[in-house]
Amino acid sequence: PAAPGFSEPKLGFQAVAVTRADTTTVPAGYTATPFLPLGTPICGTYPEYKPDGTNTGAEQEQQMGMCHDGMHFFPIGGSSTHGLLVMNHEYIVQPVLHANGATTVGGIRTVPDEVRKEIAAHGVAVVEIRSTAHGQWEIVRGAYNRRITGATPMAIRGPVRGHEKVRTKYSPDGTRTRGTLNNCAHGYTPWNTYLTCEENWAGYFVNKTGRPREHSRYGVATSSGRYRWETVAGDEYERFDVSVKAASASEDYRNEVNGFGWVVEIDPFDPDSTPIKRTALGRFAHEGCVYAPVVEGRPVVFYMGDDSQNEYIYKFVTRANYSAATANGSMLDDGTLYVARFDADGSGRWLALDFNNADFLAACLAKGVSFSDQGDVLLNTRLAAATVDATPMDRPEWGAVHPHTGEVYFTLTNNSSRTVADAANPRAPNPYGHIVRWRETGNDAAALSFEWDIFVLSGTLTDSGKLGDATQPLGEDAIHASPDGLWIDPNGILWIQTDMSGSQQGSGPFGENQMLAAEPATGEIRRFYVGPREQEVTGVITTPDGKTMFVNNQHPGDRSTPGNFTSNWPDRPQPYTTVDPSGPRPRCATVIITRNDGGVIGL
Ligand code: FEO
Ligand code: CA
Ligand code: CA
Ligand code: CA
Repeated sequence: PAAPGFSEPKLGFQAVAVTRADTTTVPAGYTATPFLPLGTPICGTYPEYKPDGTNTGAEQEQQMGMCHDGMHFFPIGGSSTHGLLVMNHEYIVQPVLHANGATTVGGIRTVPDEVRKEIAAHGVAVVEIRSTAHGQWEIVRGAYNRRITGATPMAIRGPVRGHEKVRTKYSPDGTRTRGTLNNCAHGYTPWNTYLTCEENWAGYFVNKTGRPREHSRYGVATSSGRYRWETVAGDEYERFDVSVKAASASEDYRNEVNGFGWVVEIDPFDPDSTPIKRTALGRFAHEGCVYAPVVEGRPVVFYMGDDSQNEYIYKFVTRANYSAATANGSMLDDGTLYVARFDADGSGRWLALDFNNADFLAACLAKGVSFSDQGDVLLNTRLAAATVDATPMDRPEWGAVHPHTGEVYFTLTNNSSRTVADAANPRAPNPYGHIVRWRETGNDAAALSFEWDIFVLSGTLTDSGKLGDATQPLGEDAIHASPDGLWIDPNGILWIQTDMSGSQQGSGPFGENQMLAAEPATGEIRRFYVGPREQEVTGVITTPDGKTMFVNNQHPGDRSTPGNFTSNWPDRPQPYTTVDPSGPRPRCATVIITRNDGGVIGL
C-alpha cells in the first residue's frame, strides 16, 4: 500500500518529438544547460581543459572524466542549491579523448601518458556545486572535490577479503586492489554514501595462459585487453595481463581481475576515505544498486542487475537490521545474496546464493558444481545463479524502487540472442527491450517471494505494448527502444532513459537517445528530453525540491574518428543545422534542466 498522503503524479508537460538534432530538446517552458563536460577542472591545480585533446594524464586526474553515467546529488544540509554531485565515468572514446586517437604500433601502446590519461578518464567524480541563480550552477573549489580513477587504491571487504583468489603482487594478503573500471550505474545508501557499480570490466584484462572459471564466465579477453593497457611497461599497467607468470599468486597478477566486478562504496563527504569493494553483493556486470525504502528494525535490501544477455536480477538483504542512528557501510559486508526466478503464473522467488543454505548446497550437488567457500560463490556469482535455475533475463539494466509503494521496476534493455520466449521475457529475439516490475510479498522487501507484471514493452508504433494491454502499441509521444536508465523521483514519476546503439540509434524511428516520463499507476509515457547526436542519455537526479534536474549525456559523437567529429555538442554555439566534422570535438556532459517558471520538473 502507498504511504499515507501520497497521490499518484500526473504528467504536466507537452511531449517532445523524436529528433536527430545535435542539441538538447526539452518541452516548452523548460531550459537545458550543459554542465561539467569532459575535462572540466575540478580539483588539485585545476588544469584548464584543452579543446584539442592535448591534456595530459596528470591533468585528466584533476578533471571531469569521460562517459558520464550514473549520478547522485548529495544535498549539503538538505539544501536544493548546494551539494555534492557524484557521478560515474564509464569508459572512453579514444578518437575524442586524445588529440589524434590512441597511438598503437604493432599492437603496443607506445605513448604511456595516453594510457595514464585513459585510466584517469575512468572512475568517479565528486564535485561540490552551488546554484547562483535559477538554472545556473557553479563548481565550489573546496575540499570535497575528488577524482577516483582506474588507479585509486581501494580496500576489499566482505567474504572475499583475504581470499586466495584476490591475492596479488600488489596485495599479497588479498585485502586491497587498485582502481574501479566501467562504472555504469550507481546507487547510494541510507547512510549517505555513494555506490559505484563495475559493469564491463572483464574485457580490460587479458589472460593468455588459460582462464579459470572466474575469468572465462565473465569474458576476460584471451588475446589483448580492450585498450591494450597491459602493453605498457610498469606494474600499474602490466597488471591488466592476468596470465600466470610466476610460481605463486602473490608474485604476479593472475588474480588482479578478481578484484573487479563489485559494488564499490565511496564516502563523498570524506575526501580522504578509501573506496571499498563490497564483495558480499556479488560479482557480475553490475549495472546499478538501489535500495528499498528502509524500515527501522528491518534489514536493508538492495536490488541489482547483471547487464549481459541471459543474466540475472539479484537482491542483497543485510543480516543486521536498520537503525538510522547506527547504520553504516559494514552492513554491506554481511547478508544474503539472492537471485530472482520469474514464474509463468506471475509469481516469483528469491533463491539464496549462500554456502550455508541447504537448498543452495542441494542444487550444487545436483548440478555437480562445487564451491570452496562463500568467497568462491561470490567470485563466481553467475555460476551460482545458474546453478539454482534463476531466470535468464534480457539484459537487466537499472532498477528503481517506488519511494511510496515499494514496487520495484527494472529495465531489460534488449536481447538479440534470445531464442525462446518466457513469461517475463516475452519476445524472442527482443530488439527493443521492456520494463518489468514486482511487488514483494507482504510489501516486505526482504520477502522470499513476489508478484510481477510487465510495465511496458518498448518498441515501435506497431511493435510495442502498453501496461495492462500488451497488444495495444505505444503512440508517437511514447515510442522508445532499449530502456536503460531508470529512476522514480520523490513525486512518483518514473523516468526512463534509452541506450539505443547501432542501426536502432542511427536509422530507427526513435531519433537520438532520450528520456521519457511515465505514470506508474496508469502506464502513461511521454517523451521529455532528447539528447545530442550519437549519445546515450544516462543518469538522472533532482535536487530535493524537484526543481533542478541533472541528466547525463554519454558519448556524443560516438562514431567520431580523429579530426572527423560526428557531434559538436556542447562547445559549438547553438543553433546549427549540420555537424561540422572539423568543428569542436564533442564532450560528454551533464545537462541541468529547469522549468522557466521555477516549478517542479515533470508535473
Ligand atoms: Fe553501461 Fe548496462 O550499461
Ligand atoms: Ca552507459
Ligand atoms: Ca546503462
Ligand atoms: Ca545499456
